[in-house]
Amino acid sequence: MIRFDERLNTITLHTRSSSYQMKLDSNGVLLHTYYGPRLRGGDLSTLIQKEDRGFSPNPYEAGTDRTYSLDTLPQEYSSNGAGDFRTPSLEVDCADGSHIVDLRYVRHTIREGKYALEGLPAFYTEGGEGQTLEVELLDRYTGLEVTLLYGVMEEYDLITRSVRIRNGGQGAVQLTRVMSVCLDFPAGSPDLITLGGAYGREREPVRMPLTQGVHTAGSVRGTSSHQQNPFMVLCDHDATEDSGCCWGMALVYSGNFLASAEYTQFHETRLTMGINPYRFAWRLEPGEQFVAPEAAMIFSDHGLGQMSRQFHKAIRCNLCRGPWKNSRRPILINNWEATFFHFNADKIVSIAETAGKVGIEMMVMDDGWFGKRDSDFSGLGDWNVNEKKLPGGLAPLAQRINDLGMKFGLWVEPEMVSEDSDLYRAHPDWAFQVPGRPMTRGRSQLVLDLTRQEVREYILENLRTTLKSAHIEYVKWDMNRSLTDVWSARLPANRQGEIYHRYVLGVYEILEAIHREFPDLLIEGCSGGGGRFDCGMLHYTPQIWCSDNTDAMDRLRIQYGTSFCYPCAAVGAHVSATPNCMTHRTTPMHTRGVVAAAGTFGYELDLNEITDEELEEVRRQITHFKTCWDLVLRGDYYRLSNPFAEEPFQAWMHVSPDKDRALVGVVMDKIHANPCRPRLRLKGLDPQADYRVNGTVYGGDQLMYAGLALPVLDEYEAVQYDIEKV
Ligand code: DGJ
Repeated sequence: MIRFDERLNTITLHTRSSSYQMKLDSNGVLLHTYYGPRLRGGDLSTLIQKEDRGFSPNPYEAGTDRTYSLDTLPQEYSSNGAGDFRTPSLEVDCADGSHIVDLRYVRHTIREGKYALEGLPAFYTEGGEGQTLEVELLDRYTGLEVTLLYGVMEEYDLITRSVRIRNGGQGAVQLTRVMSVCLDFPAGSPDLITLGGAYGREREPVRMPLTQGVHTAGSVRGTSSHQQNPFMVLCDHDATEDSGCCWGMALVYSGNFLASAEYTQFHETRLTMGINPYRFAWRLEPGEQFVAPEAAMIFSDHGLGQMSRQFHKAIRCNLCRGPWKNSRRPILINNWEATFFHFNADKIVSIAETAGKVGIEMMVMDDGWFGKRDSDFSGLGDWNVNEKKLPGGLAPLAQRINDLGMKFGLWVEPEMVSEDSDLYRAHPDWAFQVPGRPMTRGRSQLVLDLTRQEVREYILENLRTTLKSAHIEYVKWDMNRSLTDVWSARLPANRQGEIYHRYVLGVYEILEAIHREFPDLLIEGCSGGGGRFDCGMLHYTPQIWCSDNTDAMDRLRIQYGTSFCYPCAAVGAHVSATPNCMTHRTTPMHTRGVVAAAGTFGYELDLNEITDEELEEVRRQITHFKTCWDLVLRGDYYRLSNPFAEEPFQAWMHVSPDKDRALVGVVMDKIHANPCRPRLRLKGLDPQADYRVNGTVYGGDQLMYAGLALPVLDEYEAVQYDIEKV
C-alpha cells in the first residue's frame, strides 16, 4: 500500500511487515525519513534534528538557516556537488563541463500494478497486483529529469527501486554514475554482510561491524562475478538467524556492479547499489533517457532467516519465469566431470543407459560436441556438430536418449569465440580487442562484442538452428571468462564507456528472444560455476550452476552463502565422483546425495564406474528425492548451522508452507576426540502439532525447543530426516 498524506507531505510505502517513508520538505528536497518495522502512520521527519554542523554547507534557499544542509539530511536520492559530501547517487558531466546535480521534487504518481523495465530484468506481478510510485525530480539548471521508481509487493515485504534519467536540457550530457538505490539510515551501530568468495568458493558471507568510511563490494569483470555478489545486508549488530532487524538489498543485474555502505561522521549509514561507475559513461543527447537496473529490498524484523525466505519466495515466484519456475525439474546427469572433452555418442548413451535405469530423467551433453572442440583452446563460435564424435548430428543422439525414456539437454557458450575457429577467422573484429594491442586471453578464448547487432543476430541464429535441430529440452548456458580489452569497433570514442552495460543488455536481449521462442526450454545459467549467479540471470534462467566445485563439504559453505538471497530451486547441485576432481577429498555417496538434494539435484559422473552398493545408494537417493522435491523447491528454508563457524555438524531444513512436512539434512563436518554432542533444534514447525521423524513421534515444540539427539556420525557422514505431521 502506498499512501500520500497531503497535509504532512509524506509518501509512505507499506508492506506486510515494513514501512518506508519519504517526505517532501519546504525546499522541494525529497527526504528519506524511515525504513523499518511497519508503522501505523505519522511524520517521521520530526525525528530529524537539525543543527549548525561545521563544514556542512547550506543551499541558497536556506538563507541564513545554517542548520539546513544536504550534508546532514537523509536523502531519498542523493545529489552531487551541492553540499552533500556523502556517496552520490548520480554523477553527470553536463554540457557546459559542470557536474552539479541538485534534484528537487516536481510531482509524483501512484498506480496499481508494478512497473516493468524495457530491456532489463525486473520483478513482475500478474493481474495488476502490487503498486508503483513514480517521483519526478528535476535539476532546474541543467534540465536533467530524474524519475525514481518504486514497486511494492506487500506479501514478500519487497520494495523495488529503479531510476529513469532523461536529458531535458539543450546539450548532450554524460552520465558517469547512476545508482539504482540510495538508502540513508539514522545513527546506529549496524553490521554489514556481503557475499565474497572466489572461483570454486562462491558467495562466502563476510560480516563486519561498520566503522567510519566507505565499504564496498563490486565487480569490474563485466559479469557479477565469483568474487563478489550483487547482494548486501545491513542488520542490527546482534541480529541472528531468528531475531533482529535486517535490510537486504539485491541488484537485478548481471554485469559490473557496485554496492557500498558509507558509515558517516555522525554514525549514520548510507547504502547505495547500482552499475559500477568503473569505465561507465553513458551519453544522453537532448530528449534521450537512461534506465537503471532494478534493486530489490526486503526488510525483516525476525532476523536473517526471515529475510532470506522472503527473497526466496519473491525470486522464485515473481522474478523467475516460465513453466519450470514452480515445477519439478528433471533429475539430470551431466557428462562434464565424467568425460571432460573426451566422449562420443556411444559414451553419452552408455552413461544415460545406466542413469535411466536408476531413475535419472535427463542426459545433458556438456562442452565438446561442436566445431573443433577437443580442448578449451579451440572451437567456440562454430556451433556446427562435430560429426566425428556425433555422427549424424544431434538429432540421432537425442533420439537414442529419448528412446531410453529420458530427456536430452545441451551445453552452449554463445558469448565467446576461440581464435582457432572459423568464426574468428572470418570476423576477428567481432571479439573485444583494441586494434594494434595484443589481446588478453582468458581460458584461451575471447569475448564476442555483444554491443553489435550483427553479433547478437549471429548468436541467436545459431542457437535457433541448434535448438531446432533435435529434441532439446534443456540448455546449460555457460560463460567462462571475464571481460578485458573492452573496445568496440562499432562505437565512437565518446560512447566506449557504454560497452560494459550494452554487453549485459545484449545478453538479456538474446536470452529474452530465446525465452519467447522456446517457452518450454529449461535454461540453466552458468559462468564457470557461479560467476554470474544473480537476480538478473534468474529472470531468464530459473536455475544456475552454483559452482564448479562439487565437493560436498565445500558445497555446504557455498550453498549456505548462496541461500542468503537465492532460493534452493535456483541452486544447480550435483553428486559427483570422489576423490573430488577439485579438492581430492573423498566423501560418502550418501553425503554427496544429501548435499545435492538441497538444490536442483542431479549427477555428474559416470555411473558405470561406481560400485554396485554405490549405484544402489544412487537409486535410493533418486527415489527419495522424488518424494520430497516439493519441499526443496517450494518449502521454507532454514539454516540450522553456520559452516564458517566452528560447529561440529552442519544442518539445514526445508519446511512445507503448511508446516505439515519437512526435510532435514545433517552432515558431520569436523570430528574431534571425545566430542560434545549438541542437539539439533529444528525450526519452522507447528509447536502444537506432533510429527513423525524417521518413524518416531515427537511434539513440534519438543523438536524446536529441546531438539533432536543426533546419531554418532563419522567425519563427512550425513543423515537425512523426513518429518511428517501425524
Ligand atoms: C564451466 C562449467 O562451469 C562446467 O560445468 C563445464 O560446463 C565447463 N565450463 C565446460 O567447459
